[in-house]
Amino acid sequence: MDRAKRILITEPIMQAVMDKLSARFDVTVGRRGYYNKKENLLNELRDYDAVLCMLSNPLDREVIESAGRLRIIANNAVGYNNIDVDAAREAGIFVANTPDVLTDATADGTFALLLAVARRIPEAERALRRGEFDGWNPTGFLGMELRGKTLGIIGMGRIGTGVARRALAFGMKIAYHNRSRADDALEKELGAAYIDSVPELCRQSDIISLHCPLTAGTKHLINGEILTLMKKTAILINASRGPVVDEAALAAALKSGTIAGAGLDVYEHEPEVHPDLPALENCVLLPHITSATHETREAMGHLAADAIIGILGGKAPESIANLL
Ligand code: GLV
Ligand code: GLV
Repeated sequence: MDRAKRILITEPIMQAVMDKLSARFDVTVGRRGYYNKKENLLNELRDYDAVLCMLSNPLDREVIESAGRLRIIANNAVGYNNIDVDAAREAGIFVANTPDVLTDATADGTFALLLAVARRIPEAERALRRGEFDGWNPTGFLGMELRGKTLGIIGMGRIGTGVARRALAFGMKIAYHNRSRADDALEKELGAAYIDSVPELCRQSDIISLHCPLTAGTKHLINGEILTLMKKTAILINASRGPVVDEAALAAALKSGTIAGAGLDVYEHEPEVHPDLPALENCVLLPHITSATHETREAMGHLAADAIIGILGGKAPESIANLL
């Protein structure tokens, strides 16, 4: 128990995790969405020793430099493009994320999205709900068969690898691009072809799935020009970060038939969705849920909370595996 230490959990998370921190520290839980506004972080973060934050909270240099008392930022997400990690390092503030525990849930979720697009599941279900099911139709709602198709993965980290393993079970071929080539053993296990250039990977793939982090180098990696290189039958899946795709260019490509379909879990300006997308039947739009299982959201919260408990309790930073 260390009631002198103040923790901000920026919005309600899994109860067991809030209870764990509340049993040890003076915890404040923010209102959902309130700390998505930078101004609120700027005004209030200086009062806390630790923050357990969401990927929608902008912890940029100015916010970090305003928070003189802060010892650790624990992001309730694996992606941490919302945090200026260099600024935190310079200020002597630790940053933690939630790797590993969400790999399976996110890979499952990505595959659900992929199948939903390939087999037109939401579109067909919407038709039934409108009362349009008139019996088995030999030519109705035809989709893409996965066996023998090439899945192009951009970003072969833990999640990309998890998606590739699932795709193998469906008889797909794997091609990938990554900043660094995967080791031989993994390439062999997946039968994966490394393709040095993103345009070439996009040219060859039937389905392209994005699993890279958002950085200055991956912003708009998928732009209008790259979309025109893809097969007309191609499907694009994005469960990484919205700005990796130029959303306006994608909406135009889906409208004009430059590619056949898309599955998006993330958006360039969340929670906004490009206004042309919801009207298109050839895309499946999810509200950033690919890691959303009971098990994983609880494990993510515990991992973030444990990093806070470790740092504030004086544990050696080297012993906390999820510090960046
Ligand atoms: C979710 O998008 C995450 O980064 O964990
Ligand atoms: C994220 O955890 C990744 O490595 O894909």
